[in-house]
This record gives sequence, structure tokens and C-alpha cells, in this order.
Amino acid sequence: MDYAITVDQVTRVFTRRGSEPFHALRGISFDVPYGEIFGFLGPNGAGKTTTIRILATLLLPTSGRATVAGYDVERDFAAVRPLIGLVSGGETSGYGILTVEEQLWMFSQFYGMPTREARDKIEAYLRLVGMWDSRRLQMNRLSTGMRQKVNLVRGLVTDPKVLFLDEPTLGVDVEASVVIRHIVRDWVAARADRCVILTTHYMAEADELCSRVAIVNRGLILANAAPSQLKQGLDSKVHYEITLDRLDSTRVQQLAARTGLGSELTLTTDKVTNKPMLIAHLQHEADIGVLIAALSGAGSTLEYMRKLEPSLEDAFLNLVGRTFEDEEEESPAVS
Ligand SMILES: Nc1ncnc2c1ncn2[C@@H]1O[C@H](COP(=O)(O)OP(=O)(O)O)[C@@H](O)[C@H]1O
Ligand SMILES: [Mg+2]
Repeated sequence: MDYAITVDQVTRVFTRRGSEPFHALRGISFDVPYGEIFGFLGPNGAGKTTTIRILATLLLPTSGRATVAGYDVERDFAAVRPLIGLVSGGETSGYGILTVEEQLWMFSQFYGMPTREARDKIEAYLRLVGMWDSRRLQMNRLSTGMRQKVNLVRGLVTDPKVLFLDEPTLGVDVEASVVIRHIVRDWVAARADRCVILTTHYMAEADELCSRVAIVNRGLILANAAPSQLKQGLDSKVHYEITLDRLDSTRVQQLAARTGLGSELTLTTDKVTNKPMLIAHLQHEADIGVLIAALSGAGSTLEYMRKLEPSLEDAFLNLVGRTFEDEEEESPAVS
């Protein structure tokens, strides 16, 4: 298979004067075929940006090998560079005093794009992200959302084979995030010979955009699979919350005896309505029918029912043993 990216046992150690060597990447391996949006999901300090910087030839791996579009990132970096684009969140990149239009033009010329093609593409992409009317604004006058839309345009105009998006929606307002996500998805969908590597610490973003997601933590890949697979792997039970007009513990016991679902039922109270709520952790999905029939037989009327779908958040919790927020507080400060 012809891969856009191959990464084989890559490590990266940072040495800082006066402190122990820091292992930011501890041997990661993954491959990404063309036509895919591949997600790197992990908390701050996980090693996402370090990986992107190595693939974008801005940083050398300490050991291991990586290729981008078939070229070795270390040996053939000069061949890799014209084929890639890099858009980072948080970056205040470029030259603030230039206008949106001037800055994009300048980048297109760095890449040696023909004048006509550059002008046409800049206009088309600026219109697409809704920034054409803002083309004469100075870069340093833009909101984060506007700036990230321009940065995305900058990443797209050169039509890279591999586009790296490092937290492209970090700190961006909801509306701009939606625009950015749509454009990224359409861009890949229309080009089977292109690929996007996206890092994010927004679970929902990875879930929505990526065909595959690597969960990274402390320099290691803990899982690499389709989001649906990551969620499936969690547990085989199906969870329901059922709010009823009335139900008490005696009835739940009777219900348990009749259906044989005793160990799978918990009675609590619906926080919103204060009505009794039955939580069912079912081994077999089909048992939900049995349970509902038994409930109405017991004289309870069902008011509200919700199936709890597992999230990538649960997948992360399951793999790492704690939540994202807990992790973030532990990332060491960089000087
Ligand atoms: N140039 C550097 N010097 C020293 N440590 C670094 C350097 N760059 C990154 N690190 C450390 O490596 C770890 C991974 O960083 P990074 O790849 O930026 O994580 P992420 O992008 O997942 O938040 C962090 O703990 C960070 O402090
Ligand atoms: Mg980062």
C-alpha cells in the first residue's frame, strides 16, 4: 500500500541543561493511507505537536524512522517540504502588519505558485471560509476564529499532499470551528490522494472528523482505531436511563424476580424531574423489550427513556484510567 505517512518506532528526547533528559515520544508507530483524516487525540503534553513537528521536518527524531509522501523526513526533508502544509492553532503566525490578502500572496510566492493560479485560489478559498470581504484587514486585527480561517486558507492554497492541522480550532469560536471542520472534511473527501493529520484535545472534533484516531498519552500511542471501534471496545453492556411516573424499591425487586435482570437494575431519582429513574446496564440489548413490558405490567408509566452511548471521552478514561482534565494539570512547563 502507498502510505501518506509511515512512522516506525519514533522517539524524541529533549535535553535541557540542569535537568534530566525528557522523553517526549517513547517509541510511536503508525501508518496513514491517503484519503484519510487521521486524528491524534491526547491531553496537553502528550507529544502531539512533537510528532507533527517531526513529520513536518521541523524537528529531528532521536531514533526511529518516518516518511511523508514516500520521503524520509530526515534524509529527504527537502523533498518533503513542498508537499506539505502546516497549520497550528494558537499561532499568531505571519506578519501582523500585512493584510490577509498580502500575507496569503506572500506564502503562495514562497511556494513558487504561478501568479494567476495563486490569485484564483486565494480568492476561492477566502470566499469559502467567508473571509473575502475581510481580505484588506491587517492580520493582527483579526479575532482568533478569523485568523485560524486565514491560516487554514494558507494551508490549502498550495494544495499539499499532506496537511498537518495542529489544534486548528484551539480557542476558536463555535461558528468558525464549524466552518473549519466542514472545509477540512470536504477537502479530503474530494481528493483521494491527499491526507490530513489532525491533532486535537477536543474529543467531539476527533469523533466527528477522523476516520481513525490514535489516543496518545505521555509519548505513547495507547490505541489506534476508528472512533466507533474505540467506543465499542469499552464494554459490551448497553446502558439505559428510564424515567417513570412511579416506581419504588419493592416493585424493582418484584421486577427483578420476574425478568431475571436483578443485578442489572439500579433505582435512583431523575435529577431534573425528581421522578423515579431506573438505570439498566443490560448484558443483552434485547432485554430492553422484556424490561419495558414488565414495567408497564407493574403499573408504571414510562415518561422518558435514553440510551447512553459511549463517547471517546469514555474510551480515553478507560485507556488512561483518568479523565483528560486531570492529565492536563500534570504537563510539565516548558521554558
Ligand atoms: N523544545 C522542547 N524542549 C523541552 N521539552 C519540550 C520541548 N518541546 C516539547 N517539550 C515537552 O514535550 C512534551 C510533549 O510536548 P508536545 O508535543 O508539545 O505536547 P502536546 O502537543 O501533545 O501538548 C511536553 O511535556 C513538553 O513540555
Ligand atoms: Mg500541542
